[in-house]
Amino acid sequence: MDFKIAVLPGDGIGPEISEQGVNVMTAVCQRFGHSVTYEYAICGADAIERVGDPFPEETFQTCMRADAVLFSAVGDPKYDNDPAAKVRPEQGLLAMRKRLGLYANVRPVETFDCLVHKSPLKDELVREADFICIRELTGGMYFGEKYQDEDRAYDTNLYTRPEIERILRVGYDYARRRRRHLTVVDKANVLASSRLWRKVAQEMAAEYPDVTTDFMYVDNAAMRMIQEPRFFDVIVTENTFGDILTDEGSCITGSMGLLPSASTGDHTPVFEPVHGSWPQARGQNIANPLAQILCVAMLFEYFGLQEEGDLIRDAVSASLDANVRTPEIQVEGAPRFGTKEVGAWIVEYIQKA
Ligand code: IPM
Ligand code: MG
Repeated sequence: MDFKIAVLPGDGIGPEISEQGVNVMTAVCQRFGHSVTYEYAICGADAIERVGDPFPEETFQTCMRADAVLFSAVGDPKYDNDPAAKVRPEQGLLAMRKRLGLYANVRPVETFDCLVHKSPLKDELVREADFICIRELTGGMYFGEKYQDEDRAYDTNLYTRPEIERILRVGYDYARRRRRHLTVVDKANVLASSRLWRKVAQEMAAEYPDVTTDFMYVDNAAMRMIQEPRFFDVIVTENTFGDILTDEGSCITGSMGLLPSASTGDHTPVFEPVHGSWPQARGQNIANPLAQILCVAMLFEYFGLQEEGDLIRDAVSASLDANVRTPEIQVEGAPRFGTKEVGAWIVEYIQKA
């Protein structure tokens, strides 16, 4: 294949992990005879500083020209502590989602055996938990009509049937490739929008008799996720519930720094680590590049290149087994490796494989 990749390093540790992702992408392309070119673009706080817009038009055009976007992270504490800030880095993320039509956000929740002890849950609960959260990403309260004055404020949680149907299709496609179990998470006992979700899902379930569909209220799902994470295979849910549940999901594995995600939809797909920009660690060569590197695996898999994806996953597992790890997951007494060293080790593994 002839890949054209838009690279958006963004803020904080973004540029450092981005570099490792790109190196791995290049190594895999060389190894399998694909060609690849990169076009870099600015976003987030970095883009606000330079051009006053967290997702400039030029960045959008770069994304539109590409086959895939390798995104790292946006965010800067400077904006968190300033409620009056007119533009925020996160707005760039939302603009990217909307303009690229990225309605399906796929966040795998996977455990790595050697990191299970890092989980806040007991080993026996979390070991072998393996599910994916599919979060609707361009609708609901995030994008519905908003209003705010001194005394009243609201956000509208609007969903239409086509929006619900298309995200459920993504869910069913995944379920068919996995353990054929789909859980629709909603709040149909209270919210009208959730009742529409449930109605549409019940109708669609009949089209997928080979998949077990069940329904769960979001409060119950939040509880079940820590009581019995292995219950889940594929979760489909609306934007806001998905935001909350995917944070919960990523931390129960003990390996948040290792989780990639994919956002797909109408235009170019975006591959992005689940973790944020960790501004305090910027430039220190301590950030874990594995989530970004696993984004590259998801990218290949998206294009049906399973072997390429598998090789990256093997390399990541091998690096963990060899204790080539960044400080936050390193075992006591083992040597220290930085972002660059972990990336370089994985590149070498790929070249030698
Ligand atoms: C996420 C983040 C974003 C969201 C923020 C940064 C706007 O929390 O990707 O989950 O709420 O969607
Ligand atoms: Mg979130």
